[in-house]
Amino acid sequence: MTIRTISPLDCIILNGTVVTAADIARYDIGIKDGKVSILAPALSLADSPATRVIDAQGAYVMPGGIDAHVHLAEPQLFGKGKAADDYTTGTKSAIAGGTTTIIAFAPQDKASPSLLKALDETARKAEGVAYCDYSFHLLLSNPTRECLNEFSALRNRGISSVKIYMTYELLQLRDNQILDVLLQSRIDGVTTMIHAENGDMLSWMTEQLEMRNLLEPKYHATSRPQILEGEATGRAIALSQLIETPILIVHVSSPLAATTIRNAQTAGLPIYAETCPQYLFLTRDDLSKPGYEGAKCVCSPPPRDGVQDLEGIWRGLQNGTFTILSSDHCPFEFDNAVSGKKAAISDDAPLGRFKYIPNGCPGVETRLPLVLSAGRLSPQKFVEVTSTNPAKLYGMYPQKGALLPGVSDADLVIWYPENGIEAFELGNEMLHHNVDYTPFEGRVLSQWPRYTLLRGEVVWDRDNGGVIGEMGCGQFVRRGRSEFCQVQGPWDPEKF
Ligand code: URP
Ligand code: ZN
Ligand code: ZN
Repeated sequence: MTIRTISPLDCIILNGTVVTAADIARYDIGIKDGKVSILAPALSLADSPATRVIDAQGAYVMPGGIDAHVHLAEPQLFGKGKAADDYTTGTKSAIAGGTTTIIAFAPQDKASPSLLKALDETARKAEGVAYCDYSFHLLLSNPTRECLNEFSALRNRGISSVKIYMTYELLQLRDNQILDVLLQSRIDGVTTMIHAENGDMLSWMTEQLEMRNLLEPKYHATSRPQILEGEATGRAIALSQLIETPILIVHVSSPLAATTIRNAQTAGLPIYAETCPQYLFLTRDDLSKPGYEGAKCVCSPPPRDGVQDLEGIWRGLQNGTFTILSSDHCPFEFDNAVSGKKAAISDDAPLGRFKYIPNGCPGVETRLPLVLSAGRLSPQKFVEVTSTNPAKLYGMYPQKGALLPGVSDADLVIWYPENGIEAFELGNEMLHHNVDYTPFEGRVLSQWPRYTLLRGEVVWDRDNGGVIGEMGCGQFVRRGRSEFCQVQGPWDPEKF
């Protein structure tokens, strides 16, 4: 006979409403050594020994948010700006908003194009300074044969995704280059993320507007109409169809693109899609605010025309067209004339030239509270698109994005109990990013994370110290092949 001593749990979350992508029910959660150790009926762990007990009565308890689209510490890539957040401020902001894992970008340097070198350089920036767990997508701007040959080495390093662009001068790939990337992705089990906007249509439209002296921030939207995103989305789908390999279209903004994606999905094609809060809450009106205010909401693709467009994107989340909801946190200071939004202002263009406005909005901290407060997704759907699906799509499931005893990291976000928080107006001073504005200033929220736990440690306690995790507690997450990107057998051109 063996005698086992049961050591106390490290933490018990008592009597919460536990939400996963599949279920919602009252449970207790026991945590040991950074992992979810027990899921037990509500209050059954009330008398169990534990170092810490969190009473979550009436509160949603969810797997920590996974934000799979975050730009940190990047050089100038999208106009004149330079990222305002590094891996310290960006990840601090993430945990304060309930996100426990981010995937940021490791940009390839065109002049020195090795992907492994890009990975090493970016990994050094994150090492020892992050507040949440993290991984990287390789941002591919020059897919030479040498680089493509590095895909298998990237897989061995725990990186299983790359992002490519159909626009931006420094990044745009031609269709034949995209096909090269897709074929290599298929061979090595890499997920290809595509920024789908037609770069040639965009430069032509920009010239037309510039010739007419139509320069201010609102013309950013005019330069990038829905058709420009719709065309590129359709083309990306056709390219993926040729290689018979899955793709993920990032930051989809328009109902036109969403419909194109939905039709492809209905036809059985493995097309996945991401949207972001800016396409659920912002419109052209935000870009048209007086003076230079609109520059705060310049991102690409741009916020669309009106409420009917926002509704189309909400519908796509509800009906499964969108697999994931990310922030596309792309932080530039507003009041900064060198590397921020105001770098596009000059004496001859006092309201700026839209083509120089750094593209991107901050949002890693506000992603979850904005969308949960809106109350338009069921709690399970909310968890699915903000945590579970990103984990599955990017090869981290069920370590992340789930609450499986003995398997999943104890990454949790615990919200306030119903009626436990007064509705409040969001203000930038509440946030932890290194940006002097939020595009969601003044929005009324009814939820904010009460606690965030990272591998069992409380790192955010809103009512007792705020960010209490230590810098460097975030770890690199090795990722495997996407659960959604399974391809069988070699590609055969003779099939066509
Ligand atoms: O405006 C945006 N989204 N800027 C970030 C760059 C990108 O394409 O994700
Ligand atoms: Zn993009
Ligand atoms: Zn982005």
